[in-house]
Amino acid sequence: MSASEIRLSDRLRTLPGYPLAEVPAIKRRLLEAGVDVIDLGAGDNDTPPPTVALDALADALHDPAYSKYGFQQGLPQFRKAASNWIERRFGVRFDPTTELLPLIGSKEGLSHLPFAVANPGDVTIVPEPGYQAYLGGSILAGAEPYIAALEAEHDFLLKFDRIPASVLQRAKVAFVNYPNNPTAAVAPLDYLAEAVAACRKYGIVLAYDNAYCELTFDDYKAPSIFEIPGARDVAVEFFSLSKSYSMTGWRLGFAAGRPELIGALTRIKTYVDTGPFLAVQKAGAAALEHSEALVAPIRTELTRRRDAAAVALEAAGFTVQRPKAAMYFWIPLPAGVESARFARQALEQQGVVVLPGSAFGPAGEGFFRIALTVGAERLREAAERLGSVLTTTRQEAGSLAAAP
Ligand SMILES: Cc1ncc(COP(=O)(O)O)c(C=O)c1O
Repeated sequence: MSASEIRLSDRLRTLPGYPLAEVPAIKRRLLEAGVDVIDLGAGDNDTPPPTVALDALADALHDPAYSKYGFQQGLPQFRKAASNWIERRFGVRFDPTTELLPLIGSKEGLSHLPFAVANPGDVTIVPEPGYQAYLGGSILAGAEPYIAALEAEHDFLLKFDRIPASVLQRAKVAFVNYPNNPTAAVAPLDYLAEAVAACRKYGIVLAYDNAYCELTFDDYKAPSIFEIPGARDVAVEFFSLSKSYSMTGWRLGFAAGRPELIGALTRIKTYVDTGPFLAVQKAGAAALEHSEALVAPIRTELTRRRDAAAVALEAAGFTVQRPKAAMYFWIPLPAGVESARFARQALEQQGVVVLPGSAFGPAGEGFFRIALTVGAERLREAAERLGSVLTTTRQEAGSLAAAP
């Protein structure tokens, strides 16, 4: 068979382009040309992983037992640490053996969930703008994503009461993510209660993505979906060690939920992976056991960055809202300024990597996202550079609008 005869699947062709896919190549070209690039693209913090995790990993690497297959059971110590952390943090208890599941990063679990709960043709409810793994997992499982726009006028909340009943009746899973990527919105408890009620009414699995629960500012404390009475009947919650402990590349997260749902996801995973590296699970257990001490300095640094970025972005001409959580600013662009064009100019003319809102789906148009992944001084520099791009693009949009 020659290369020209290879026919790829319809599911693959249906996947939209992945938002970060082309950035590394452009960035490399600019760096080679000597450009001082400031990368505010991926949500990948520059703070190092915690020493307790490094030490635990180093120990485990010298013990051949940790080099074996982990399978889905994984390391009991990690399951226990995850269960204890959830109980300390949210006051709810999950059985380490039957109600928790180690994941190779939460993305892996989120994208595999539709295989466990949706048949081909069933609907999945996917927020837009949103983390693209929800859409990808839905399409690859043959489900039909229903795109729910997150709108500024509804505080970027996924409003179940705005989804037609005919869609809710066909839906098998809804992805809900607060603190939110990319909008940095947070969800009040009464909203979460509405979401749980809707999912219970229509028999929808509520996939609650809490990847950013520890990155919170000021006095805000992000809740678990399981703080809502009745949530256990319908919800699976996804946690990540990536953002809380600067362990993005280590690939470790976990899911919590009732045994039937955790069992179903376990069964899917049995056929596609063999669980996270046991040594990484040992390191993850150490991080979770010391969670409170580890996240405090990360929060302090992110708060410093958030405040510096807010002042600098406003001075540069942007309208910003100080986020209460997550590590992003979701910044509106003036009418007529296309987000992809703005992001490309920011990168090519000013060496600043930002993500265009449209990369998170068409409903993200009119915004761009920056991640607080560099220190306050670099954020100030980036804001100034983005301000010049804003001036240019505004002038261009103005002259285009004025053209006959
Ligand atoms: C909303 C959201 N969920 C999940 C993830 C995945 O995190 P990980 O797979 O590293 O645990 C990310 C990563 O950026 C995210 O933004």
